[in-house]
Amino acid sequence: MTKCVLGVLAGVLLTSQAWGADLTGDWVFQAAPSFPRFTKMVIRQDAGGLHGTITSEWYGDLPMLDLKATGEGPAGERLVFHIDNGNPKLKPLDLTLAPDESGIRLTGQVWYEKQDATAHRATAAEMAALDFPTYPLPAPAHVPSNGLARTPPMGWSSWNKFAEAIDDKTVREIADALVRSGLRDAGYVYVNIDDGWQGERGPDGVLHPNAKFPDMKALADYVHARGLKLGIYSSPGPKSCAGYAGSYGHVEQDARTWAEWGIDYLKYDLCSGEGFYHTADTVQAVYQQMGAALNATGRPIVYSLCEYGRFDVGAWGRDVGGNLWRTTGDIEDSYASMATIGFDKNGVPRHTGPGGWNDPDMLEVGNGGMTTEEYRTHISLWAMMAAPLLMGNDARSMPRDTLALLGNAEVIAIDQDPLGRQGLPVRKQDGTEVWTRPLADGSVAVGLFNRTDKPMAMTADWPALGLGDHPSVRDLWAHRGVAPGAAHTVPAHGVVLLRATR
Ligand code: GLA
Repeated sequence: MTKCVLGVLAGVLLTSQAWGADLTGDWVFQAAPSFPRFTKMVIRQDAGGLHGTITSEWYGDLPMLDLKATGEGPAGERLVFHIDNGNPKLKPLDLTLAPDESGIRLTGQVWYEKQDATAHRATAAEMAALDFPTYPLPAPAHVPSNGLARTPPMGWSSWNKFAEAIDDKTVREIADALVRSGLRDAGYVYVNIDDGWQGERGPDGVLHPNAKFPDMKALADYVHARGLKLGIYSSPGPKSCAGYAGSYGHVEQDARTWAEWGIDYLKYDLCSGEGFYHTADTVQAVYQQMGAALNATGRPIVYSLCEYGRFDVGAWGRDVGGNLWRTTGDIEDSYASMATIGFDKNGVPRHTGPGGWNDPDMLEVGNGGMTTEEYRTHISLWAMMAAPLLMGNDARSMPRDTLALLGNAEVIAIDQDPLGRQGLPVRKQDGTEVWTRPLADGSVAVGLFNRTDKPMAMTADWPALGLGDHPSVRDLWAHRGVAPGAAHTVPAHGVVLLRATR
C-alpha cells in the first residue's frame, strides 16, 4: 500500500520534472528588448533540481533564481524564475519561459522594460560566441590624492536639463553662456558632458564619441580657450545608465583616451556595473581601478564617484582617488526630492573636506519645478553642506532671478569656504531647522530653514550658537547687515541665510 502511494507520487514528480526538462538545454535569443538585452541561456536539470544562467548585455551572467516548473501539463509547461542585478531598491520581477514554435519564448518584465523574446536551441559554437568576459579586479591599494578639488567643484552638467539630447553645439553654447553671464568668474568652471556622448569602440578597443560629438579634442580646446574645463561621463559596467558603452574591460584605455582629448573631470556612474559589483569590496575595487587609471595618465582629472551612496562611500572615497561621491540616488526637480536629499540624505559630514566632498547631486535651480524660494533653499542648503555646485539648467537662457540665485557671490563664498566643513542642523522644531557651518575666518554661516508650507517667524539664538550676545550679522540674500536680535519671517519652503561674526 505504502509502496503503491510512493509509486504514484514518484510518477507525479517525474511528470512534472519531465515537462520542466523539455525546456532544458542551451538557448540563444533572437532579438531581445534593449534592456537588459538577454543574449543566451543555459538551463539544466540534475539531482539538485532545475537551475540555469541567463546572460544579459547589461549585467553579464545572471543566475536564474528560484527556477521552477509550473503549468498544467506538457502543453502548458512553463518555467518561472527571476533575476537580481544587485540594486537593493529594485524588486526582481518574475519571468516566464514557455515552449514556442521557434523553441522557447521569454515573457515578463525587468523593472521598467517589458520582455518578449524567443530563443532557439543553440550549438556550442553559437553559445561560446556570446560568452560574457569577466575581468580581475585589483587588490585593495591606496590611490594617492590628485591634489584637486580643494574646495567643492563648481560648474555645469548636461544631465538634469538635456539628458541624452546633448551635443557639441549645445556644450559650446553653454561654455559661451558661462563666460557671458559672469558665472565662470563666479567659480562655475567645469562644463560636464553627462551620459549620451558615447559611440562605438573601434577594432583597437578605443571608444569613440557618437555623431553628436564629432571631435572631442576640438571641443576641449574650445572650452579651455574660454578659461573653462571639460568633464565627461562613464560607467564601470558594460553599459551606462542610458544604455551607452561603459568602460567595462577598457578602464585604462578609456582613461588614456580622455586624457588625450584634454578631459578634466570624470563622473563614473555604477549603472550596469551594479550587476557585477554589488558588494562593498568589489564596488570599492572597481572605483579604485579607475582612480589609479586616471592618475596614471598624468593629467589632473577630478574624479566623481556615482554609486548612489552605497557601502558608506564617504569612508573610502578618498582612498580610491575620489574627489566627490554621490550620497543618494537621483535628484528630481521638485521640492520634495530636493528637500529629502538636502536635509536628510547629504552624507556623513566628517568625510567631507578639502579634496573629497559629499555630493548630494547636481542642482535643479532654474529648471522650473520649484518656486524661487524653493530654489533659494536648494542653493543655500548646498552651500551650507559644502556640496559641489553643478548647475543643471539651460545656462544659455537664464532669467534674471535664476542668475541671481546661482551667482550670489556671498552664498558661493560659504560653499567654497576653505575650511571645508559641512554644516549641520543644530535645532529642529515644528518643521523649521537652524543650521550652522563654521568658516575659515572664525565667522559662522547660519541657515534658518522653513520646511513647512506657511511662513514662520525664526530667530537665531546667538549665545547658544557660541557667538555672544551681539554678533555682527549679514543677510546673504538681502545683501545687508541685520540687527542680531531681528526676528525673521522665513517664507514657506524658504530660508534666511546669515553670516555672523562674533
Ligand atoms: C544616473 C545618474 C544620473 C545621470 C544618469 C545618466 O541615473 O545618477 O546623475 O548621470 O545616470 O544616465
